[in-house]
Amino acid sequence: MTALPARGIPAEQVLAELGALRGHDLPTHGGRLFAYVYDAAVGGLDELAASAYALAAHVNGLDPTAFPSLLAMENDLVAAAAQVTSGLAGRVGEGAAGAVATAGPVGDGTSGVDPTAGVVGNVTSGGTESLLLAVKAARDAHPDLATPRLVVPASAHAAFAKAAQYLRVALDVVPIDPGTLLPDPAAMAAAITPDTVLVACSAPAYPYGVIDPVAEIAAVAADAGVRCHVDACFGGWLLPYLRRLGRPIPPFGFELPGVTSVSVDLHKYAYAPKGVSVLLHRDAALRRPQYFGFAGWPGYPMLNATVASTRSGGPVAGAWATLRHLGDDGYLRLAERTLSAVTGLAAAVSTVDGLRLLAEPQTSVVVFTCTDPDPYVLADQLAARGWHTQPQLPYPPLPASIHLSVTAAVADQVAQFGPALADAVAAARAAGPIQVPSELAAAVADLDPATLGPETMAGLAAAAGFGPDGLPESMAIVNTLLATLPPERRATLLVEFLSLLQTPPH
Ligand SMILES: Cc1ncc(COP(=O)(O)O)c(C=O)c1O
Repeated sequence: MTALPARGIPAEQVLAELGALRGHDLPTHGGRLFAYVYDAAVGGLDELAASAYALAAHVNGLDPTAFPSLLAMENDLVAAAAQVTSGLAGRVGEGAAGAVATAGPVGDGTSGVDPTAGVVGNVTSGGTESLLLAVKAARDAHPDLATPRLVVPASAHAAFAKAAQYLRVALDVVPIDPGTLLPDPAAMAAAITPDTVLVACSAPAYPYGVIDPVAEIAAVAADAGVRCHVDACFGGWLLPYLRRLGRPIPPFGFELPGVTSVSVDLHKYAYAPKGVSVLLHRDAALRRPQYFGFAGWPGYPMLNATVASTRSGGPVAGAWATLRHLGDDGYLRLAERTLSAVTGLAAAVSTVDGLRLLAEPQTSVVVFTCTDPDPYVLADQLAARGWHTQPQLPYPPLPASIHLSVTAAVADQVAQFGPALADAVAAARAAGPIQVPSELAAAVADLDPATLGPETMAGLAAAAGFGPDGLPESMAIVNTLLATLPPERRATLLVEFLSLLQTPPH
């Protein structure tokens, strides 16, 4: 369909076309999609966020003096993110940080001082941008180093690898223990060199939903005089509420000495529409190298805290409205629903013979492994029954697994998951693992990145049974093939596939 018809089309027809296109997508609501989307299932919330978004969609974050509404909302979101991630939300009334002293000891219970007092931050477009900027700030604080280095656990989000690649920072990956799924703080300490500009860890890490030993890692970073970033993009908004519900959630924010920056995504467990994360720094001096400022041209001085210059006010307003509407009490209720869903899903998994939880759920992730049934076939069978999970490829010594990011909307669906899972397991066992045609397996094994182009990729896709729209009909064959490649070779194939998909009609 052309995006630019010769004659404009009436609004209702355009919306109908859009609706038809959206009909091919996975369901963003309904609590049966366990990745990509975060659904509060709160009546009216979508409508509110959409109205707020529309009110500010054409406002430009490029210049806060022209659009002070955006500056005000951004500062409010930053303050709220600092409060929540440092375990202060719910202790005081309407964002009154000054009242913390009267609320008694905070965080780990060792001090009555407000650890967020000097905290500054910015709204970014998402977790990846927050991490990119944390790495940029750390790198640019050390213009003296020819090869700045970044230390992360193997479970750290891929966005750190992206930041390292974009910013030409060397990435030092510390293995995680295959039992606890956690990095050893001593190994993190040993990986720090005089060129290390940043040590990072997660609260929690996405693949398994477990919380790194943040206090210990921040302490070893501080001992070495290195910044420590806590990636709380995924669960940072949820963890403090789980703690208030009695879960053993350790502190992970600025109440820990040594933590210099924290990121938390509002488009995840704050349930805001897509396009909003917050990057926090302990103080303004730490944030300074994040900025770009340039007045050496005839146009306007360009001053940016984030990667984009022109920024729509839509996501900021959508998030601000979402937070104001749900409130601290709303987030506590949503966390309770999420927790009950996690408990129900984990119980359902545990009762099925042959499925093994990789970790007792600590936060909002249920992750399990299996060899019989084949995990990729099982994921397809679940999808055929309307349950969309996220297969994770093996990362030796860690096995292939099936990941479920659980949100509040899942609570209403949990009772139906167990029977669907049992049914899908039986069907996957009956089907057996995918038998990859030997020529296809050989072609993939022998792939030469230097010669892999659109024609080769199109041939592979056809051999793997991709549909006429270029999309795979069975993900199991794709995952089975990818799993045969070592992790470092998988992306070559995937990038070429994406490039093929992202070819416009001519
Ligand atoms: C721990 C963590 N960090 C960073 C990101 C990247 O976030 P985004 O997809 O918003 O860029 C994610 C996304 O799932 C995440 O789980």
